[in-house]
Amino acid sequence: MRKDVFFPLLALALSWWCMVNVEAAVGLQTPVKLQWHYYKRHNTCDDAETYVRYQVEKFWKEDKSLAPKLARLLYSDCMVTGCDASVLLDGPNTEKAAPQNWGLGAFVVIDKIKTVLEDRCPGVVSCADILNLATRDALHMAGAPSYPVFTGRRDGMTSTAASVDLPSPSVSWEEALAYFKSKGLDVLDMTTLLGAHSMGRTHCRYVEDRLYNFNKTGKPDPSMDPAFATQMRKACPPRVKKGQSDPLVFLNPDSGSDYKFTASFYNRVTSSQAVLGVDQQLRYNNDTLQIAQEFAASFEDFRKSFALSMSRMGNINVLTGTAGEIRRNCSFTNKGYA
Ligand SMILES: *[C@@H]1O[C@H](CO)[C@@H](O)[C@H](O)[C@H]1NC(C)=O
Ligand SMILES: *[C@@H]1O[C@H](CO)[C@@H](O)[C@H](O)[C@H]1NC(C)=O
Ligand SMILES: *[C@@H]1O[C@H](CO)[C@@H](O)[C@H](O)[C@H]1NC(C)=O
Repeated sequence: MRKDVFFPLLALALSWWCMVNVEAAVGLQTPVKLQWHYYKRHNTCDDAETYVRYQVEKFWKEDKSLAPKLARLLYSDCMVTGCDASVLLDGPNTEKAAPQNWGLGAFVVIDKIKTVLEDRCPGVVSCADILNLATRDALHMAGAPSYPVFTGRRDGMTSTAASVDLPSPSVSWEEALAYFKSKGLDVLDMTTLLGAHSMGRTHCRYVEDRLYNFNKTGKPDPSMDPAFATQMRKACPPRVKKGQSDPLVFLNPDSGSDYKFTASFYNRVTSSQAVLGVDQQLRYNNDTLQIAQEFAASFEDFRKSFALSMSRMGNINVLTGTAGEIRRNCSFTNKGYA
């Protein structure tokens, strides 16, 4: 039954993806200006994508948490002012310094890839493309599908903490959807991209309202499976003392330290065992519930949808042509690096 309800929506999205010229399929708010294998096509750095993949693999073999870290970094970049690597810029009042971006990682990996590329093809490959390619590759290594990343993005020249509008992990379903829509994404993208929470960790502080004081009721979140809530309260004891530690918990205890990309996240959503409030709420809307049920039943459907939504996210408000610049160091604008 669930297939009947949901399938038309997904089938439509996927057939659209497969049938149209892939280059035409990436348009969002901006006209399509990115190209398939941009650096090869322009003969500026034929092996750019190979260099990126090689470095990502080296780091990923050492630390599997690279995949969720890059996924979060890309999300934090693309959703705020577009995929322009503005999240990578250092400085006192940059996006990186905003409280919502606290705990972002993988900057070292991006810097290493940039070092290699500046050595091989100086001044050519943008940090925004590196971030997109590296995320695709790390996710693929973790078990996600590979998907085409069109290239030719340029890097932004500004970054301000005040522009960071990322919603909190306990935002309501309506607010979450409004946020995704404001970026040109839809309900299928939202349900799909939240599936990136099949990997990675979060601090207890983002969960404790659900465990102790949901929506200021002084009670736990009623949408949480009681046995799971008990387990989570053990992992995240009430923080009563100032300076008490704020432990990390896995976003998907089933995947845990394997950092494997799986569909088990959706089983947790449908059985009221999601860790974050925003994830659990997918269950309380008929559209997102049906999508979650479909993904829980078919990993392949989730994989296809994930490839599509990641592509769409990677094309939000990209800079091309003469806009922006190609940074020499991903942490600084060229002016700031002189
Ligand atoms: C960028 O600048 C930082 C700080 O000076 C430095 O540590 C890093 O190695 C530089 N990266 C590249 C790619 O030049
Ligand atoms: C939280 O409480 C407010 C006011 O009672 C209510 O309007 C809102 O729907 C509640 N939010 C959730 C997520 O339950
Ligand atoms: C969701 O589905 C249930 C069961 O099919 C139905 O009773 C309910 O009215 C639906 N809710 C909305 C908001 O469409």
